[in-house]
Amino acid sequence: MPDIVLNQAAVTSADTDAVVVTAFEHGLSQAAKEADVALDGLLAEMRDAKEISGEFGECTSIRTMGRMPARQLLVLGLGKPAQLDSFRLHNAYQFAGSALRSHRASSATVFVDQAAVDAVGGNGTGGDAGADALRDVATGLLLANFEQGTRKSKPDERPALQHIAIGVISADGALGAALDEAQVLAQATNQVRSWASAPANTLTPTMLAASATALYEGTGLEVEVLDKADLEKEGMGALLGVARGSDEPPVMITVRYDGGRPDGPRLALVGKGITFDTGGISIKPAAGMELMKYDMGGGAAVLAAMWAIAKLRPAANVIGVVPATENMPGGRAYKPGDVLTSLSGKTIEVLNTDAEGRIILADGLAKARRMGATHIVDVATLTGACVVALGHATSGLMTNNASLATLVKRASEKAGERVAELPMHPEYDICLRSDVADMKNIGDRAAGTISAAVFLREFVDDTPWVHLDIAGSGWNDQEGQVQIPSGPTGVPARTFVHLARLFAEM
Ligand code: BES
Ligand code: MN
Ligand code: ZN
Repeated sequence: MPDIVLNQAAVTSADTDAVVVTAFEHGLSQAAKEADVALDGLLAEMRDAKEISGEFGECTSIRTMGRMPARQLLVLGLGKPAQLDSFRLHNAYQFAGSALRSHRASSATVFVDQAAVDAVGGNGTGGDAGADALRDVATGLLLANFEQGTRKSKPDERPALQHIAIGVISADGALGAALDEAQVLAQATNQVRSWASAPANTLTPTMLAASATALYEGTGLEVEVLDKADLEKEGMGALLGVARGSDEPPVMITVRYDGGRPDGPRLALVGKGITFDTGGISIKPAAGMELMKYDMGGGAAVLAAMWAIAKLRPAANVIGVVPATENMPGGRAYKPGDVLTSLSGKTIEVLNTDAEGRIILADGLAKARRMGATHIVDVATLTGACVVALGHATSGLMTNNASLATLVKRASEKAGERVAELPMHPEYDICLRSDVADMKNIGDRAAGTISAAVFLREFVDDTPWVHLDIAGSGWNDQEGQVQIPSGPTGVPARTFVHLARLFAEM
C-alpha cells in the first residue's frame, strides 16, 4: 500500500520526484505561481503561449532542471472553479496520478487549492470541507494505481505511486483520518474495477465468491456462499432459471456486517452478479459483447463496499447480497415463454432471456428481506437504455421512498459519484401483465430503464428501496468522453460506504 502523509513544505522545497500544482482556465493557482518564480517565469510564458490552458484534466509535465528539488513539475488543469465538485476532483487527480506514473514518478508532493476545498464545501453535505477535499484528492491519486492489463506477459512498466505527500493550506479538522479513509475508499474502488475488468473465464460466479471470501479474511465479516443445492432448497427459481444455460454453477453470496444496535435499521445492498451476459437464447449481437464481462459490476461494488465498511466500522447494520451466474444459451437454457417461480413466490414469464438481471435480482431482493433488511439499495448494469439516457458520468436512480433516495444522493455527493433520479410516476406502471404468470420480465420499448425498475419494485413490497442503474456509469467506453477516466469506474462502492455512515447517524 502506498503511503500518504501531510506536508507543510513549500512548493520550492518539496523533494519528492514530482510536485503537483494546479491551473484554472482563468489563471495559475497560488502554488503554481510560487513554482513559476523558481522556474524564472516559465509557467507564465507557457500560459501566454496557451501551452498551459488550465482546461479540466490537462496535465503538463515540466522538467525543473535543478531549479526546484523535485525533478518534475506537473501542472494539473482544473477548468472552471464554479464547475468543480467532488466527482471532478476525483477524476482530475486520477488523471494527475496517471500522468505522474507515465513520467516515471513514484513519489509526489501535491498542493491542494482553496478552490478545491470550496468546491466540496459548497455541496451542502456539511462536515469538514478541508478534510473532504483532502480525501477526494488522495483517493483520486490512488485510483491512478489501478491497472487493467495485469494479464499481459510484458506488463506495463509505469511505476505505481508509492509515496504521496499532500501540501495543505488549512490544517483544520481530521485530516489524518481523511487520508486513512482515502486508502480504504480507493482500494475498494480499485477492487471493483479489477473484478469488473477480469475476463469472464477468470472470474466465474464460483471464483467471484472465492475472491470475495479471501478478501474478507480477518475483517470479521460473515460471508456465506449458497451453492446450487442451497438455492434449490431455498426455492430461488429465478436465479436458477437464468443459470440453466451455463455449465458454470450459480451462487448467491451474502455478507453481514453488524455494527449497529441489533434492533436498529438494517441496510441491504443487493448487486447484480452476471459474470457474463450473452443474452441467452435472446442472444446479443457479436459486436461489443466482450464488454458483458462487467455485467457483475453491481455485485462487485456491493462486495467491495462491504469490505470497506468492515474496515471503517460505522455503527450501522449492513448486509450484502449478490446473486451470481452466467447468462448463456446452453442446451438446457431457459427460453422465451418459460415461467419461473421466484423466492418470493411470485411467478415470472420470461419474454426475453436478455432481461436476466432483473430476474436474478428478484431473488436477491427477496433474500435481503428474509435477512431482515429494513432498507434496500440495489445496483445493476441493468439496461442499455440507461446508457442512452445518461451516458457514462451518471448512474440512474429510481425509488419508492423519497427519504431513502435523499440519503443515497447525499452519500453519492460525498463519494464523488453522480446519480440522477428518473421518475416512477404511476404513468410508468406500464403493463407487465402476463396471461400465464404474475408478471412478464419486459415492458414495451419506451422508458426501458424505468420499466426495469417497475419490475424490481414488485419484489420489495413496502420496504424503502432505491435502485441504481450503472449500465453506463460503471464503464466508460465512450471515445471522446475524456473528462472521466476510461474503463471500469468502480461505482457506486464509495457511495455505499458513505451511505452506511449516514445510516450510523439514524
Ligand atoms: N447487461 C445488460 C444491460 C447493459 C447494456 C449493460 C449495455 C451495460 C451496457 C442487460 O442484461 C440487458 O441485456 N438488458 C436489455 C434489456 C431488454 C432485453 C429489455 C437491454 O438493455 O437491451
Ligand atoms: Mn442481458
Ligand atoms: Zn445483463
